[in-house]
Amino acid sequence: MAQKNTAPARSTRASTQPEFHPGSLVSVRDLTPERTRSILQLADTLEAEDTFKRAKRLLKRRVALLFYESSTRTRTSFELAAKSMSADTTLVSSLSSSIEKGESLKDTGITLRSLGAECIILRSPFSGAPYLLAKSTGLPVLNAGDGMHEHPSQALLDLRTMLRHLGIKSAKLNENSLKGLTVTICGDIFHSRVARSNALLLPTLGARVIFCGPTPLLPEVAATIGPGVSIERDFDSSLKQSQIVMMLRIQAERLAGLSLDLEDYKLRYQANGERIAALAPNALIMHPGPIIRGMEITSEVADGPQSAIAEQVHHGLCIRRALLFQALSGERA
Ligand code: CP
Repeated sequence: MAQKNTAPARSTRASTQPEFHPGSLVSVRDLTPERTRSILQLADTLEAEDTFKRAKRLLKRRVALLFYESSTRTRTSFELAAKSMSADTTLVSSLSSSIEKGESLKDTGITLRSLGAECIILRSPFSGAPYLLAKSTGLPVLNAGDGMHEHPSQALLDLRTMLRHLGIKSAKLNENSLKGLTVTICGDIFHSRVARSNALLLPTLGARVIFCGPTPLLPEVAATIGPGVSIERDFDSSLKQSQIVMMLRIQAERLAGLSLDLEDYKLRYQANGERIAALAPNALIMHPGPIIRGMEITSEVADGPQSAIAEQVHHGLCIRRALLFQALSGERA
């Protein structure tokens, strides 16, 4: 298995992985603008659909949720999305499973497949774990966040949130849809799979991404992740250029060895009312959660009129419904 907490490496956009089940989503690199559009359109269709009709979509299909890291939003939304289409779900977490006794991810996956699981949703602290699981089981695997690598369903729900605010219809989505849009992603970029997936996805649709943060949380190499991504150390300058601002929490659980003056950090990088009102009064404020109030964002901003944080959670349910339906039905819309 790949190393835990490996640093982000230079990335190249690879083609979809033919050895995986085509319903898998392990990386946003597997998303062409056409596939992104089809997921968003399907999310719209399923959201608008009569609940009784929707409830027949995945009747008695079996979904395993394999969560080896804590989660509130992702786990609950995948589970509720599956249940809204009448799939049966089972949750396996590290503390209550044979992973604790040393069983490998591959053997866990094969066991779940033997028990009838038809799709596995995996959150893991290990970068690359969903690739291993998809290859070793042949089942559709949906990456629910792997270490410091990727969080593709989060990037899709963030995209749906942005499109709604920009008034862009899913059916019209193409590689130029976000031309002229600048998105600042500010905070702990180094440890963030959300930053990585967004920075890989948004430029495929024409957006420009600014990574913003201090050097310990944002090494220079991060700008090489792909086209359309640059680094800005000064948050105020970055805010002036951006229509969308995505704040990230500092991932204390992954900091290991990095030291940070938190008071200085707040002074320079906190999204607070005064700063947002002065520099980005019309920007949409986003955050994947969990938010740490008073650290990267104040309550005034998190609960304020520019905040899309609660909406993002709703879009997560819609996107994950579409991903599950595609994974289990093979249908695109
Ligand atoms: N955004 C996100 O992944 O949140 P959870 O860790 O609560 O799932």
